[in-house]
Amino acid sequence: MSHSDYVAADAAWVSPEIFSDSVLYDLEQQRIFGRSWLLLGHVSQLPVPGAFLRTNMGEESVLVTRDRDGEIHAHLNACRHRGFQLCQQDRGVAHSFQCRYHGWVYASHGALLGVPGQATLYYNELDKPRWGLVPVARVDTYKGLIFGNFDPDAPPLSDFLGDMAWYLDIILDRRLGGTELLGPQRWRIAANWKIVAENHCGDEYHVGFAHGSNFPDLPGSMRAAPLPYAREIRPMLGHGVGVNIFPDEMTPEQLLATAGFPRPRHVTDYLLRVQDEIAERLGRQRSHMSIIHGAVWPNFGMVPIVNSLRVIHPKGVGEVEMWAYCLLDRDAPADVKQWLANQTTATFGPAGSFEQDDAGNWSAVTQSSRGAQGRRHPLNLQMGIGHEERSDKFPGELGLTASEINQRGFYL
Ligand code: FES
Ligand SMILES: [Fe+2]
Repeated sequence: MSHSDYVAADAAWVSPEIFSDSVLYDLEQQRIFGRSWLLLGHVSQLPVPGAFLRTNMGEESVLVTRDRDGEIHAHLNACRHRGFQLCQQDRGVAHSFQCRYHGWVYASHGALLGVPGQATLYYNELDKPRWGLVPVARVDTYKGLIFGNFDPDAPPLSDFLGDMAWYLDIILDRRLGGTELLGPQRWRIAANWKIVAENHCGDEYHVGFAHGSNFPDLPGSMRAAPLPYAREIRPMLGHGVGVNIFPDEMTPEQLLATAGFPRPRHVTDYLLRVQDEIAERLGRQRSHMSIIHGAVWPNFGMVPIVNSLRVIHPKGVGEVEMWAYCLLDRDAPADVKQWLANQTTATFGPAGSFEQDDAGNWSAVTQSSRGAQGRRHPLNLQMGIGHEERSDKFPGELGLTASEINQRGFYL
């Protein structure tokens, strides 16, 4: 089987088998998760030398550490003796890690420091420098986000992000003090990782229908109408965003009233207070934009309209573990952060009003892709095909909201 058996040349259709084929899943682990820059966390989660966190890159457990010199490392979280999962804790501070199986000890930069019985049992013949933790070949950061890549020959992170960085700055580069992450909240969904990722990347079409109970006053005719300020934008390289682009003449007050959900006065006041700083940092164009949803290829999704960043960790062909974070301006007042974090959880937390609709839909798609008959018939992704536009104001290609421009980019 090749790519063209699963995806049309223009991605106007995909085979349902992409959601249930276990051979394809194994190839994805090697060729996608083994070669892409994957989100590991945020520098705010490693605030001091010795701080560590545990995450996953594809199916691999990975230990991310800040060493005594402040440098960030990532290694496979597997002891080199018998492969025991070395670090069993999600986060903490430690300058060394002792394996609970037989007691080998590693430094936070990965070196094997000590082995019980080194003289008496190994006759001092163990070549310790050779048996350090296996490093993730490349680690880099972008505006606070930490990424890792198993491929030593991968392009630099900045090339991998490409034009997506221009859009990411809208959420990452708002203020001098930068951002911080809360969480993650984690839960499992019986769904293939790609239906979850493509939904974040470009599916605005479902919002009025699948989440209809959140918009009881929206007339039926408006549920699939192109939204006035919103566009789907494909920055290429598999990434996608849905943005609001507000008219230049809109005041910050009008802009805030239009973007997102109702918010209390103290949150509105804070957002108004920082508008000048944002405009100075991002320029007029991007200070008049907001990101509704998006995804960095392959599995870093986001719903910035409610401050949610999420990593869709694959757990076998038919399951994911969602790790959902709340992204906040680091220098925002505590009561503002608290309200925003509550909003993130209420909408896109594990029991969130939107997340519940989505999880059920992704599971249903995955389930129907398993049938011997149904999986032979392609699924349609043609919305907006041939109507992509270019603009000298925005990097990438533009479609209406809704359009499937970004899902097609995800699969090509
Ligand atoms: S598996 Fe880690 S010390 Fe044996
Ligand atoms: Fe949704």
